[in-house]
Amino acid sequence: MNDLILRSIRGEKIDRFPVWLMRQAGRYMPQYRELREKERDFVSFYKNVDLSVKASLLPLELLEVDALIIFSDILVPLEPMGVEVRFEEGEGPKLYWDGNFKSLKRISYEDTSFVLEIIRGVKASQSEVPVIGFCGGPFTLLSYMLDGSPHKGLRNTKLCLWSGECKQALGLLVENLVEYVKGQILAGVDLIQVFDSWVLHLSYEDFEDYANVYLKDFIKSIKEFNVPVIYFFRGSGSFLKALKDLPADCISVDWTVDIVESMEVYSHAFQGNLDPYVLYADLETIRRKTLDLLRCIPRKTRYVFNLGHGLMPDMELEKVKYLVQVVKSYRIA
Ligand code: CP3
Repeated sequence: MNDLILRSIRGEKIDRFPVWLMRQAGRYMPQYRELREKERDFVSFYKNVDLSVKASLLPLELLEVDALIIFSDILVPLEPMGVEVRFEEGEGPKLYWDGNFKSLKRISYEDTSFVLEIIRGVKASQSEVPVIGFCGGPFTLLSYMLDGSPHKGLRNTKLCLWSGECKQALGLLVENLVEYVKGQILAGVDLIQVFDSWVLHLSYEDFEDYANVYLKDFIKSIKEFNVPVIYFFRGSGSFLKALKDLPADCISVDWTVDIVESMEVYSHAFQGNLDPYVLYADLETIRRKTLDLLRCIPRKTRYVFNLGHGLMPDMELEKVKYLVQVVKSYRIA
C-alpha cells in the first residue's frame, strides 16, 4: 500500500509529499456528474452504497491521489438525531427539526450503517491508498442546525451560545460524533478528518470559549481509537494560535496563514494552504504557485499537500490532474 500520507503525518522519511484534495470526488468531474444522473436526489445518492463507493474511487482512477476520502456528507449523523436533511438542487442543504434541543437523540453508529458499508466497499475495491473517514466539527454542525445556511452568518448560533443554552446540545453532538467516528474506524478507515468549516464567523474569544472547548474534548476522545486525526478549519489566520495544544495529529489550514512560520512553532503535522482559486489560473501559474509552496516547506516537516478549501464545481478536471502531477513530481531534496 502507498502509505505516504500516514508516514508523512507520523514524521517518517518520505521523498515526496503526499497529495489528496478536499471535494476531490465532486461536480467538477464529468464522471461524477454522470453517476449523479443515476440518482438526482443528493441524500438518496449518498445513501446509495454502490454509487457512493464508485464516487469515492473516482479520484484514484482519474487523479492518482495518495488517499481517498469516503463519499458522504458532514450532515449525515444529524438525521438519526432527529434533524431531517434535504438538498434542493443548486441551493445547498436545508434542515428540518422542531428546534427543541431536548428532542435530539443519542445515536449509535449502526444508525448510519450505509456509511459503514461504503467504507467497507471502498476498502474491498482497492488496497492501493489509505481511506479517510470524516465528520463535521461539533460547532459547525450546531451552526447548520440553528442557522441552516451558515454562509448567511451565524445569528441564531451566536445568540444561543451567548445565552448559555447550547451547552447540552454541543455536549450531545460531541458524544454522537465520537460514536459516529468509532463506527467508521471499526469499518476500516485509516485516518479521520474533522471539518470545521464555519468557525471562521466567530470572534477569537468565542472560538476559544465555545468551539475550542468542545473540539478539544472531541478530538481527545477520538484519538483513543488510535488513528491519525486531521483538523480542518477555515479562519486559520485568526484561530491557529488557539490550537497549539489541540490533540490532533495534523492541522489543515486555509491560505490566510504563513505555513512555514506556523510549522516552526507547532508540533503538529500540517496540511493544505494552497488557495484553491489557483486552479482557475493557467497551467503555468498553477505550477508556479504550487512549487512556490512546496519549496518553502522545510525538509523535515510533516506535510500533506491539499488546498486551503475544497475544489469548486466549475474547476477543470485537466487542471486538477495537472496540479496532482506537479505535487507528485516534486522531490524533497
Ligand atoms: O470529495 C469529498 O471531499 C468527499 C465528500 C464530501 C462531500 N461533502 C460531498 C458533497 C465531504 C467531505 C463533504 C463535507 C462537507 N459537506 C462540508 C465540509 C467541507 C466544506 O466544504 O467546508 C460541508 C460544509 C458540507 C455541507 C454541504 N454539503 C454543502 C455546503 C454542500 C454544497 C451545496 C451545493 O449544492 O453547493 C453539500 C453538498 C455536497 N457534499 C456535494 C458533494 C459532492 C455537492 C452535491 C451534488 O453533487 O449535487
